[in-house]
Amino acid sequence: MIDKKDLMAKANAAMSRAYAPYSHFRVGAAVLCEDESIYTGCNIENASYGATNCAERTAIFKAVSEGHRKITAVAICGGPDGVVYGPAYPCGICRQVMSEFGSPDMPVYIGTDSDILEFTLADLIPHAFEL
Ligand code: THU
Repeated sequence: MIDKKDLMAKANAAMSRAYAPYSHFRVGAAVLCEDESIYTGCNIENASYGATNCAERTAIFKAVSEGHRKITAVAICGGPDGVVYGPAYPCGICRQVMSEFGSPDMPVYIGTDSDILEFTLADLIPHAFEL
C-alpha cells in the first residue's frame, strides 16, 4: 500500500529528469492507478514554448497509454532549478486532464517531501467541464 510520502518521493525523483532549459522550473509528478501501479512524469519543454508538456500530463498520458483509465492519487512537486520551496500547484489544463481520469474525491498531494498538502481534485477543479 503506497502512502503519500512514497508517492511524493517518486514525484521528486521524476523531477530530476525534467527537461526545462527555458524556464528552469522543474516539475515532477507521480500518479497512482487502480491496480496500485505508479507512473511518473516530468515537464518537457520545447523551443516552441507552446509545445511544452507539464509533468502531470506526462505521467497521466504514460498511464493511459499503458492501458489505465482510472487514476486514484497524484503527487506533484516542483520549483526553480528543482529546489522545492513550497507547493507547485497544477495548471488549469492539468487539472482538467486529471478530472478526465480521476474522481472528484481523488487526493492530490502537492508540496515537498517534508510538507505535503492534501487536496481533493474537486478542491482544485470544481465544476470541471464534462461532456
Ligand atoms: N509546469 C508543469 O510541469 N506543471 C504544471 O502544472 C504547471 C507548469 C511546467 C511547464 C513549464 O515547463 C514550467 O513548469 C514553467 O511553466
